[in-house]
Formats: sequence, structure tokens, C-alpha cells
Amino acid sequence: MQKVIFDTDPGVDDAMALLFLHRHPDIDLIGVTTVFGNAPIETTTRNAQFLHRKWDIAAPIASGAGRAFHDGRADDHPASIVHGEDGLGNIGVPATVDLPLDPRPAFQYIIDMVRAHPGEVTLVAVGRMTNLALALQADPDIAGLVRQVVVMGGAFDVNGNVTPAAEANIYGDPEAADVVFTASWKVTIFGLDVTMKTIMSSDYLAEMTASGAPGLQLLSDLSQHYIGFYRQRVGLDGMALHDSCACIYLVAPELFEYRSGPVRVVCGGLADGKTIQAPESGRRFEGSAWDGPPSQFVAVAVSPDKVLDILRATLVGSH
Ligand code: BDR
Ligand code: CA
Repeated sequence: MQKVIFDTDPGVDDAMALLFLHRHPDIDLIGVTTVFGNAPIETTTRNAQFLHRKWDIAAPIASGAGRAFHDGRADDHPASIVHGEDGLGNIGVPATVDLPLDPRPAFQYIIDMVRAHPGEVTLVAVGRMTNLALALQADPDIAGLVRQVVVMGGAFDVNGNVTPAAEANIYGDPEAADVVFTASWKVTIFGLDVTMKTIMSSDYLAEMTASGAPGLQLLSDLSQHYIGFYRQRVGLDGMALHDSCACIYLVAPELFEYRSGPVRVVCGGLADGKTIQAPESGRRFEGSAWDGPPSQFVAVAVSPDKVLDILRATLVGSH
């Protein structure tokens, strides 16, 4: 069983990924940490509490950062158009949910869990990288104690989704992402290059829901606003499974192809939040900002049908 901490900003696609982690038999979800992003931190944390209650998820929730790592920059691109005002598709989540939070801030929770289980914990980060950067800042040695880091974020050989250069999770806190990508731990990154190719059609979701498996009606209800966004704004019938890609990697890494090389993030200016990977071999860039950081792994191809198969089998419970 892989011990996983899910760092998330629920978020519609976050919700599906959470249910996947909760239901997969090979994953031991030991904690959920929240971060601002798809909604303000109070809302994403409340949403995590709501989903835990609805889906009987026992993992503790620790609330995390509400502002960016470096300069506390605020979000200038509200995600409500994608995820709804409540971050969960405007389904009417109650203002408060009676579920106690872990008393520690997310970054401290991460540090404590990693130190309690050296070499065992996988961090799956599918929102801004702020909590992970804060954890590294407070305790740099955790880099050598984490099993691996898996990220949904970035756009390497394709355009971004907030600007032509940048994807939302990175754009919302570029400095934090740069800290995470250049630290001495193994990071595998699932950007728009693969997540925009991993689409669940509305029929597929409806058919899954019709199976009657517990919890799927809620998942379907909260996804409808998101599907509407993709239909109207992106011209797709269905929804991109951004955050689920990072989670499915944990149990089926062979469904993706990877490229290795150091990854840096543009911080500021016209290309703010752009992710760039240097080639591993061939031309060298001595003395540049890419000369020195460890190589990380970027997913560059995906088998979307097989990703959907695994997701469906796990959510419906037919493993
Ligand atoms: C990412 O941004 C958020 O809207 C989604 O939850 C996902 O993590 C996609 O760019
Ligand atoms: Ca997310």
C-alpha cells in the first residue's frame, strides 16, 4: 500500500481524484491538505470536509495556504467560471461542515507525516504548490525523506489555460512551483500536455453513475457545471481529468510516457508561470538557470482510454 498525502484545492476534478484515492485498494490515503486555488482557502477546506463526510473518508484534513509563497500575491484569475462559486459546481454546499480539522497547518502536517514514515510517503499535489514549498522551507531535509512527489500542473509543449504561457496551478504560485521542481526529490509532473487529452465524456459519466455505485450521483451532480464550462468555452463534450491523471499514475505509471530533464518556472513578466524543461542530453546550457537542478519527469503522452478504464473500475468498485 502506498501512503499518500493529497494536497488539493477542491475543485471538481480534485473531487473525482479524491474519490479515486479513497477507493483504490493499493492506496493508503493518510491525509488531505488543502490550498487556495479553485476557490479561497476557507472554501476549498470546507469542500474537503464536505466530501469527506459524504464519502466517509477517514483521512485527516489539514488546512493550508491561502496566499502565494513568495510575495503573497493574490489570485487575479478566479476559477469560479470553471468550478462554480462554491468550487463544487454550485450544488449548494452548506456554509460550514461539522468535521474537525487537524490542528496543524498543512505544511507542518506534511513534515510530521514524512518524518513519521521516512521513505514511504508520496505527496500528490494538484493545486498551487504553496504548501509543499512552505514545508521545504521549514524543513529542507524532508526532500530526502519523501518517497516521491507527483504534481498536476504546467504546460510544456502546449499552451496554458490561464494565459497562453501558463497553466492554473503554476500561474497561481510560480515561485512555489519552482522551489518544488528544483528540490532534490523525485517529481513527476502531469501537465496539460496529457491532461487535456484525458477527457471523460458526459455520456461516460452518466453511464458510470447509472451503475448505482455509492457516491457517484454526488460526483455527477457537482461535475455538471464543469462539463458546461468545457462545452461552452473549450468546445468539448466532457471534462478534462486533470487531477485524476496524477493519481492514476500511482497505480498505472505505464499508461504515460515521460521525458526527463531539469524543470524551471518563469516567475514574472509576460510568460509568468510558464514551465520549461531542459533536455537531459545533447546541448548543454552551462551557467544557466537550468544547469544544476535535478532532472524531473514530465509526462508527454497518455493512453486516455486505459486511464478511463482504471478510473471507472475504481470508482464503481469493480476491482
Ligand atoms: C488545474 O487547475 C484547477 O482548475 C484544476 O483543479 C486542476 O488542478 C488544471 O489547470
Ligand atoms: Ca486541482
